Amino acid sequence: MTDLSKITCIEDLRQVAKRRVPTMFYDYADSGSWTEGTYRANEADFQSIKLRQRVAVNMEGRSTQTTMIGQQVAMPVAIAPTGMTGMQHADGEILGARAAKAFGIPFTLSTMSICSIEDVAAATNNHPFMFQLYVLRDRAFIERLIDRAKAANCSALQITLDLQILGQRHKDIKNGLSAPPKLTLPNILNMATKPRWCLGMLGTKRRGFGNIVGHVQGVDNMTSLSAWTSQQFDPTLNWDDVAWIKKRWGGKIVLKGIQDAEDARLAVDSGADALIVSNHGGRQLDGAPSSITALPAIVHAVGKNIEVWMDGGVRSGQDVLKARALGAQGVMIGRAWLYALGAYGEAGVTKMLQILHKELDLTMAFCGRTDINTVDKGILLPGSY
Ligand code: GLV
Repeated sequence: MTDLSKITCIEDLRQVAKRRVPTMFYDYADSGSWTEGTYRANEADFQSIKLRQRVAVNMEGRSTQTTMIGQQVAMPVAIAPTGMTGMQHADGEILGARAAKAFGIPFTLSTMSICSIEDVAAATNNHPFMFQLYVLRDRAFIERLIDRAKAANCSALQITLDLQILGQRHKDIKNGLSAPPKLTLPNILNMATKPRWCLGMLGTKRRGFGNIVGHVQGVDNMTSLSAWTSQQFDPTLNWDDVAWIKKRWGGKIVLKGIQDAEDARLAVDSGADALIVSNHGGRQLDGAPSSITALPAIVHAVGKNIEVWMDGGVRSGQDVLKARALGAQGVMIGRAWLYALGAYGEAGVTKMLQILHKELDLTMAFCGRTDINTVDKGILLPGSY
């Protein structure tokens, strides 16, 4: 087994996670919808953007510190809300929140997490984290979730706008994805080859959707939970819901899942603090442009009226730098953090953040800049973006 000191890049973490995490959950993380064209484009399109190297520039005293919606961050990176994370590794969301806190970057908890809002707050001594909200049909449940996020001292609410309906991911259907996994013979045989994962799971009581189970009447076991969730995503979600949620929450709002300049202008009108250019990691509309190619038009459309973040395809500090050069104040990391967690737990997440930070810092220096806040399109080769 590879030891953590030999890990030097995000791809190393992916390979270890693939060996250590049961196939059903590894596949859930490492897949996109339908042909996975948008999923692949998210990563590939970063590669065609070229950086300008500068030489004989004093590179001493560098800083990657900046802000995201007013919060100081050690680098412009936040951990993205990912579903079922406590199935990549026992207590996954708690471990991720702890690693993010220690590193000085924001963590986001998903509505569809395994550890609950209260679990994460307790494990981090109420250190503020962002909470991602799915707008579900059961609005009374949403009200309670918002109140729970407030009580937990959450720093912002991220409203996901691009999952009113679910894009089809072939592998999840074929694998019979569920949390906890059903004890079918193929699942048992597969889990038997992942002893670390099994030991972790035996050592925790958190194996279902912690924000839901016990918080919705009649949802107390696997069967009732899957029946409830399958009809809960709300196809009627619209801008009036955003206004209603914003009022009820009363704090900072981030709108996740914007791909189009027209929607970006509506996001500004809604009074949100930030929007996230995102195609949900290529998991929803297959055939949509990559996030990094959608970013410039959105930045242009909204000007300074709202902070713009992006996610999708970020696998290196070089990618973080390119997104920042194209106008993103920050990026969110989804798969990279899941691979890190599945591979080595909390130590893996810390390692992932160290890798990204080092890549970002050195690449910025090669481009002749010493402060992330001065990075702009000037570091990119004209014609390559
Ligand atoms: C949920 O956010 C998913 O993409 O599965």
